[in-house]
Amino acid sequence: MRNANEANLTEAVLAKLEGAADPRFKQIMSSLIRHLHAFIRETELTEKEWITGIQFLTATGQKCDARRQEFILLSDTLGVSMLVDAINHRKPGGATETTVLGPFYVSGAKDMPMWADIAGNAPGEPAYVSGRVLDVNGKPIAGAVLDVWQTDGEGFYDVQRPGGKEHYARGRFTTGADGRYGFRTIKPVSYPVPTDGPVGKMLLGMGRHPYRPAHVHVIATAPGYDRVATHLFVEGDEYLDSDAVFGVKHSLVVEFKDHPAGPAPDGKKSTVPFYTAEFDFRLVRS
Ligand code: BEZ
Ligand code: FE
Repeated sequence: MRNANEANLTEAVLAKLEGAADPRFKQIMSSLIRHLHAFIRETELTEKEWITGIQFLTATGQKCDARRQEFILLSDTLGVSMLVDAINHRKPGGATETTVLGPFYVSGAKDMPMWADIAGNAPGEPAYVSGRVLDVNGKPIAGAVLDVWQTDGEGFYDVQRPGGKEHYARGRFTTGADGRYGFRTIKPVSYPVPTDGPVGKMLLGMGRHPYRPAHVHVIATAPGYDRVATHLFVEGDEYLDSDAVFGVKHSLVVEFKDHPAGPAPDGKKSTVPFYTAEFDFRLVRS
């Protein structure tokens, strides 16, 4: 190929894919090339802007390590993660909707009995979260596992604390024959996604805030059913309509009702005021 120019360059690059052995790889790469070239034509990118883009992607990669994934954060804040999620988890009506997994999941959380306290010494206001795991016809699912994690009442995940060794606000619960689950925790609060890297600068440049509305993360699994990675969002949170990662779905917003000190859902007496939240998970057969 000689004399590449504005008019013929895209076709010339696409032609280089003729020898690609994997048809899906070929489809993805040709779409990527077409859209990338269209973007550059549409914006008439200057050389300075092009190098700024290269430097941004380089810095994004350099910010990644075993504990930090800046590229996923980029994907989250550009709505790419939620778009991939939406395409891959089209659910029938009535099924619990999915949302973004986020970077703070830690596998191997402790198995806990009904009404165990996942909060440990984490700061925050007590809350009791309970409900059932059901199929889409409303039949309880026994042996379903809920893997739960959330921030403390100051908006930090355990792994974000200096050292980050002592785990809290995480646990795994298995339903019995009635499909019921319940745990004591603290009411989650809204918090910013990490802003000390290139994605933080990008959000600033876009005039966006970095906050996520308060939520409890849950991965629900049961033999024979599709896995659901989702959140329970706190009704009334100021960021429900402007989540930095576009993760909010109306069906996942739950009321956290406040109660004075007294009898609590776990059958004990709470000496301090507390919140209760109820949510039924509805899983789809695989
Ligand atoms: C989270 O909810 O934990 C989260 C999701 C996306 C980006 C950052 C944090
Ligand atoms: Fe989160």
